[in-house]
Amino acid sequence: PFSVKLHETSDPDKKQMLERIQNAVKSAVEPLKKALQNRLSEEEISKQAEVVLQEAKDILSEWLDAKLCSQVTDNAIFSNLPKFWEEEYHKDMAALNVLPADVLTRVSEYVPEIVDFVQRIVDNGYGYVSNGSVYFDTMKFDTSEKHSYAKLVPEAVGDQKALQEGEGDLSISADRLSEKRSPSDFALWKSSKPGEPSWDSPWGKGRPGWHIECSAMAGSILGESMDIHGGGFDLRFPHHDNELAQSEAYFENDNWVRYFLHTGHLTIAGCKMSKSLKNFITIKDALKKHTARQLRLAFLMHSWKDTLDYSNNTMESAIQYEKFMNEFFLNVKDILRAPADVTGQCEKWDTQEIALNKSFFDKKAAVHEALCDNIDTRTVLEEMRSLVSQCNSYIAGKKSTRQMPNRMLLENISIYLTQMFKIFGAIEGDEANIGFPVGGNGQTLNLESTVMPYLHILSEFREGIRQIAKDKKVPEVLQLCDSLRDDVLPEHGVRFEDHEGLPTVVKLVDRDTLLKEREEKKKIEEEKKLKKEAAARKKQEQEAAKLAKMKISPGEMFKSEHDKYSKFDENGFPTHDMEGKELSKGQMKKLKKLYEAQEKLYKEYLQMVQNGTAN
Ligand SMILES: *[C@@H]1O[C@H](CO)[C@@H](O)[C@H](O)[C@H]1NC(C)=O
Ligand SMILES: *[C@@H]1O[C@H](CO)[C@@H](O)[C@H](O)[C@H]1NC(C)=O
Ligand SMILES: *[C@@H]1O[C@H](CO)[C@@H](O)[C@H](O)[C@H]1NC(C)=O
Ligand SMILES: *[C@@H]1O[C@H](CO)[C@@H](O)[C@H](O)[C@H]1NC(C)=O
Ligand SMILES: *[C@@H]1O[C@H](CO)[C@@H](O)[C@H](O)[C@H]1NC(C)=O
Ligand SMILES: [Zn+2]
Repeated sequence: PFSVKLHETSDPDKKQMLERIQNAVKSAVEPLKKALQNRLSEEEISKQAEVVLQEAKDILSEWLDAKLCSQVTDNAIFSNLPKFWEEEYHKDMAALNVLPADVLTRVSEYVPEIVDFVQRIVDNGYGYVSNGSVYFDTMKFDTSEKHSYAKLVPEAVGDQKALQEGEGDLSISADRLSEKRSPSDFALWKSSKPGEPSWDSPWGKGRPGWHIECSAMAGSILGESMDIHGGGFDLRFPHHDNELAQSEAYFENDNWVRYFLHTGHLTIAGCKMSKSLKNFITIKDALKKHTARQLRLAFLMHSWKDTLDYSNNTMESAIQYEKFMNEFFLNVKDILRAPADVTGQCEKWDTQEIALNKSFFDKKAAVHEALCDNIDTRTVLEEMRSLVSQCNSYIAGKKSTRQMPNRMLLENISIYLTQMFKIFGAIEGDEANIGFPVGGNGQTLNLESTVMPYLHILSEFREGIRQIAKDKKVPEVLQLCDSLRDDVLPEHGVRFEDHEGLPTVVKLVDRDTLLKEREEKKKIEEEKKLKKEAAARKKQEQEAAKLAKMKISPGEMFKSEHDKYSKFDENGFPTHDMEGKELSKGQMKKLKKLYEAQEKLYKEYLQMVQNGTAN
């Protein structure tokens, strides 16, 4: 089926895209074939098969869809996938520092409202039921005195290509055309084919038309009229014109939307970005190459209503702009940090200061005017750049005459510029700092990725120092390294874990946890120390006792035991017991053993005395 489709495709861009897919699949299949022929391991084969599945994902899902979609009856499949992408979308928006919406509407949650909406349009006479679907009667609406159809792009009425692009075969295929009173009519409610999501309605099982969801959802939140409706330039016709028509048919008014803001398209290096051509760049990919601020600056440097080309050139200008601004902020911060002399806060205002102050107020007025002129951010950023250029000249002039620039004026200008970047979302949060934040707890600034490279340098350096200190036996340095790990870094939420023979593990942990850990470690060490001291004391006592025993000569050993023996020989060895009875051979043998053991100990003692080690 894919080859047939490729053959029938005439659009050159599309054909090229399909050929790209075909080639990718072909070159993925070859290694799999070889792996099978050569009877490679199961693991190797499934690895190659995985590659084929990846490359052929689009071809296979289209084929599976055509084959099996009519068996799908569970609507959950149509809510699980959007749910996943909805979450991804929110993550992307947060990463770009886009503030969350106040109200989020999902079409699947609004089907009853949509059905009511369609019913009322029919009741008002602008819709009709045909073969299980409901269509909007464009002629009836346009010829009504109160209304006019296609206010945004009147010349597009009857443009079948635009309808086709907007609604696909849902409103344009032969059987659909036969259901409609006029080819310009569009579906409010469509009967569902097997495999398409469907809900119950007065007209049978079906689903909302493409435009009705916006009218019903926005209408239920905002009522019969709104000031501003946004959307891409490509949505003007048929989508927004149809949305307008059906909403005004529902509310019977002529002002559902007062202003439409249609944004320009994004192109990539000069090419139209298109999902169907598979040439698009995801926000995640873009954020891998550039920061959210750089992307925002790129957008701000263009008019929101014109085409924006995402290219190296575009991004290079944004990066240069950011650098230029950042350098200015750093210079001002440096000037503000320098110690002020007595007159520091109230320097004399010379002609330069008065001129710069005038420029500052002129630029502020120009920025305001540009924003009032259709949100012309491009001019705003140029005015801001020009203000900074003037500041730079002012600072350079002061430096060349060895004078201090006027701090309050520069500070005020920096605060103003910072405030503007905050308004534009190029600086997040609302800390009172000047300029672009260096680190912090903002959403787009990941502390981990910001500080980790530096922590690694520190930990490797410390590792090297410790090694040398161990080799050269410099305990003071080792102590210093331990103190860095145990006392200094935990205060900053950093944990270094030493593993002998392995690189130090660096972890960012919250400070309180680390301080608690430190307390626990101290407690354990304290206990260890006490145990060790007790053991040492015990050992000392044992040694003292042993020494005391060694000091007794074997001749004296038994003599003190008057309660056991009554007579001794010339060596002090007992011969008779307490009752005067001669000791038995067995008893003598036992005592002899004790005597000999003490003899040995005593000899050792004498030796120690000689050696001078007995004390
Ligand atoms: C009515 O709808 C069915 C299913 O969508 C279609 O097969 C049939 O051709 C339609 N009938 C007319 C008269 O258009
Ligand atoms: C931008 O430059 C990089 C490398 O310098 C290159 O790989 C990439 O294709 C360029 N992108 C565009 C859109 O020109
Ligand atoms: C700065 O300029 C504004 C606008 O011209 C003026 O109102 C203000 O008094 C000036 N400030 C000083 C200190 O001259
Ligand atoms: C600086 O800003 C403060 C607060 O907005 C203002 O009161 C003061 O006049 C400004 N000074 C200069 C020199 O711009
Ligand atoms: C006494 O010193 C000698 C020689 O230095 C040594 O061999 C012996 O082990 C020492 N004895 C004791 C009990 O310290
Ligand atoms: Zn819409």
